[in-house]
Amino acid sequence: MTRCCGFLAIFLCVLLMLSWCEALSSNTDDGYGHEDGSFESDSLLKLNNDDDVLTLISSDRSTSEASTVSVSDFGAKGDGKIDDTQAFKKAWKKACSTNGVTDFLVPKGKTYLLKTTQFTGPCKSLRTFQILGTLSASTKRSDYSKDKNHWLIVEDVNNLSIDGGSAGIIDGNGKIWWQNSCKTDRSKVSIVKMRSRTGDSPNTDGIHITNTQNIRISNSDIGTGDDCISIEDGSQNVQISDLTCGPGHGISIGSLGDDNSKAYVSGINVDGAKLSKTDNGVRIKTYQGGSGTAKNIKFQNIRMENVKNPIIIDQNYCDKDRCEQQESAVQVNNVVYRNISGTSTTDVAIMFNCSEKYPCQSIVLENVDIKGGTASCKNVNVKDQGTVSPQCP
Ligand SMILES: *[C@@H]1O[C@H](CO)[C@@H](O)[C@H](O)[C@H]1NC(C)=O
Ligand SMILES: *[C@@H]1O[C@H](CO)[C@@H](O)[C@H](O)[C@H]1NC(C)=O
Ligand SMILES: *[C@@H]1O[C@H](CO)[C@@H](O)[C@H](O)[C@H]1NC(C)=O
Repeated sequence: MTRCCGFLAIFLCVLLMLSWCEALSSNTDDGYGHEDGSFESDSLLKLNNDDDVLTLISSDRSTSEASTVSVSDFGAKGDGKIDDTQAFKKAWKKACSTNGVTDFLVPKGKTYLLKTTQFTGPCKSLRTFQILGTLSASTKRSDYSKDKNHWLIVEDVNNLSIDGGSAGIIDGNGKIWWQNSCKTDRSKVSIVKMRSRTGDSPNTDGIHITNTQNIRISNSDIGTGDDCISIEDGSQNVQISDLTCGPGHGISIGSLGDDNSKAYVSGINVDGAKLSKTDNGVRIKTYQGGSGTAKNIKFQNIRMENVKNPIIIDQNYCDKDRCEQQESAVQVNNVVYRNISGTSTTDVAIMFNCSEKYPCQSIVLENVDIKGGTASCKNVNVKDQGTVSPQCP
């Protein structure tokens, strides 16, 4: 079905068929159909009912008034050397404020050098962020003096589709970041060692999603120093498909609940991804002391090659020297891992380290086959379906 839609997508003129095809694919999918899963109204499968990104996209495409704002019209050079950040910002401002359905275009065949760039909404009627060319992260450390953690930030933009076409590449230049990483005391680590550890590099996410609803990221090829995609508080109905990730930290939901905060994430669907040599595969991480929920999450059809921590839920996440023990936690509920295969480079291929007071609920492993490691499972309610290896003891 994915292939069917991908194929049809090429022909924009048959968009009615596309929406039909997508609708069918969602309807026939049993999704969170395990007995004990609480199927909530904001889950992804409800997308097609009325307020959904799929109908939004297809119905919008059938209107003839869609306009395209290209970064090249705002002075972006795309030679891979000149900084195009300002041109992107101007083009974004225009695309975001345009009335009527608008697409933001990064043209094919060029490489655009970008510093930390924030694509902030709300927008009037922005439909697609089309990345047909390459976005390349600046390798100058000083370009990240304001925000060391993120590179491309999509914030407060609803109903957006980020589409890499078949050629789009998001290149975070992970290796260079690692060399320049300021999280590490450089005097203590030799350059050679840093180079050899690209998997555990710096701290800049490929695409960072926060407070954003109804977003699709498709056909993206992301290499970076931190998470290829990170999904944080306030994200709802995020669909990721045909993602290639590596190097980087994989796909991450969180960190949620830091400094005793409330966090809500739901309706995340990753369908179709290839991760190689990443630190994590698919991860959910929350801090002790937080509250709220991370629920209705589905990771499926994922291939992982030489990944350190292929499947991980960590409700005891701590990025400081010491985190104090706290009882409250962001509740993790209804997470499906389906058709995931690959290899782990560590002894623990599946790690569920959940909270004692708020155990992880309704976790389903279905047709999971990860070679090279075992499963470590604490305070988790797991159900296996089909063939699952490794299994929780
Ligand atoms: C997003 O889509 C929903 C449902 O189609 C609509 O109600 C909402 O206004 C849209 N939001 C924006 C910012 O366009
Ligand atoms: C399982 O996922 C892989 C991608 O990793 C895909 O090629 C394959 O078709 C999927 N199998 C099924 C039965 O969906
Ligand atoms: C789970 O997290 C706690 C707190 O960080 C840690 O002490 C413990 O070692 C972890 N458990 C496993 C099995 O890794």
